[in-house]
Amino acid sequence: MSVTVYVPRDAAALSVGAQEVAQEIARAAAARNTDIRVVRNGSRGLLWLEPLVEVDTPAGRIAYGPVAPEDVPGLFQTNFLSGGAHGRLLGFTENIPYLKRQERLTFARMGLTDPLSIVEYAAHGGWRGLRNALALSGGEIVETVVQSGLRGRGGAAFPAGIKWRTVLNATGQPKYVVCNADEGDSGTFSDRMIMEGDPFVLIEGMTISALAVGANQGYVYLRSEYPDAERAFEAALATASQADYLGENILGSGHSFHLELRRGAGAYICGEETAMLESLEGKRGMVRFKPPLPAIEGLFGKPTVINNVITFASVPIILDKGAQFYADYGMGRSRGTLPFQLAGNIKHGGLVEKAFGITLRELLYDYGGGSASGRPIRAVQVGGPLGAYLPESQFDTPLDYEAFAAIGGMLGHGGVVAFDDTVDMAHMARYAMEFCAIESCGKCTPCRIGSARGVEVIDRVQRGERREANVELLRDLCDTMLHGSLCALGGMAPYPVLSALNHFPEDFGLSPASRGAGRGMTQVKG
Ligand SMILES: Cc1cc2nc3c(=O)[nH]c(=O)nc-3n(C[C@H](O)[C@H](O)[C@H](O)COP(=O)(O)O)c2cc1C
Ligand code: SF4
Repeated sequence: MSVTVYVPRDAAALSVGAQEVAQEIARAAAARNTDIRVVRNGSRGLLWLEPLVEVDTPAGRIAYGPVAPEDVPGLFQTNFLSGGAHGRLLGFTENIPYLKRQERLTFARMGLTDPLSIVEYAAHGGWRGLRNALALSGGEIVETVVQSGLRGRGGAAFPAGIKWRTVLNATGQPKYVVCNADEGDSGTFSDRMIMEGDPFVLIEGMTISALAVGANQGYVYLRSEYPDAERAFEAALATASQADYLGENILGSGHSFHLELRRGAGAYICGEETAMLESLEGKRGMVRFKPPLPAIEGLFGKPTVINNVITFASVPIILDKGAQFYADYGMGRSRGTLPFQLAGNIKHGGLVEKAFGITLRELLYDYGGGSASGRPIRAVQVGGPLGAYLPESQFDTPLDYEAFAAIGGMLGHGGVVAFDDTVDMAHMARYAMEFCAIESCGKCTPCRIGSARGVEVIDRVQRGERREANVELLRDLCDTMLHGSLCALGGMAPYPVLSALNHFPEDFGLSPASRGAGRGMTQVKG
């Protein structure tokens, strides 16, 4: 009987040789006249174990990793097709603690299926949410999403259902649904994993959104550096259209929804929703003034739902299992789960989907296993390049939008980047300011000019020139950027700078006694 062997097609796995491993397994099986079926699945998200090869045995799926092409002959010799003992043997995949202790709702199918098989998608719970949605009115779908408590996963954490309600009630026609897949935050990869490893879930979520608000056309704005995601998603679009889940008269319901992929322009600011709309319209990615809100006047001036990949991908399970099922996870006003992404100097980097409320320390040590270097973790940046640097004393903060806001941080898109005690936080502050200067769209003065001057001031502080006076100037400049910038790029770049100054003053040559001398920070990445 043919044995199924899984080798991920995810870009992270490919980058460490998954393609060569898959080829070597197929070649070795053919040479031995052994009948196997190699399925290119999505990644389980245990990235330090990639390429993670799984074998389907009657008792369950057994994992080996990380597997190199040179390991393949040995795997056959030790009879890995029956789960044989080998140095790379990890046991039953589902029992690997990193995976077992997760709460995978949005990523429920990740790594289990062939991402491009619509049959497997349906067999693992796919399309159930859409079928339920087709039996509801737009208003009823919207209320289900409101009740679930789902908030936007792209940065600002705005309630998705409330945004959808605004678009539903807007009078302009036609209406659009746009997915923000620009995923520019440092240390983030959950959008990419969905688009490569379970693309139909995004198609299903966007179609449900279109039904809710009455849109017939949608776009996915994809980060230009994601060629594997582009290929996988284009293939999924074609398959879904052929099977009547997209296009005219979806599943005979009379509803139609057309969905297209657009490659992004390759600038961080194109992830900001109004700059993304400009870019989608074929213009340079420059931030628009708000109001009008995109929900009222968005793409081509028409009412537009804009949500992140993970926001949309979380919708099918809500429509399948109900708002309460989803809302039962989480804490406070942060309902459901967030796929955290562990990166930087961390031993076990990867994707951890957990209900809100887990602490940063649990994530870093229970899952991440501490730093990759084995040295103490000194600082963590959560929420992308505009997130604050958090010191060890804040590691017990629960991962919850409000708890993070209370310490001047933000969860953003769930990226967690760790640094060990060799990091120079003054250097990191400069890096954050320089990032803003490079990526600024140039529309408003506090960001365009402020970030360039900010880099110069930090340089002077680092050189020890009139240090106290220049730090005071830097704080003033940050204050102006925080309160005077048009969008959150200039408005939040001060977060990493000020948090570095406040928590790690000694790295700027300041007295440790000035620790915590910061002012409040209030912006939200919109
Ligand atoms: C500079 C900047 C970059 C952003 N980049 C992204 C991005 O790459 N992906 C994303 O989903 N949201 C990004 N956002 C947030 C979007 O503006 C917007 O809030 C989000 O797409 C809305 O979707 P959500 O409500 O589902 O999070 C960015 C915001 C700013 C200010
Ligand atoms: S804050 Fe920066 S990126 Fe945002 S509008 Fe102003 S210049 Fe553009």
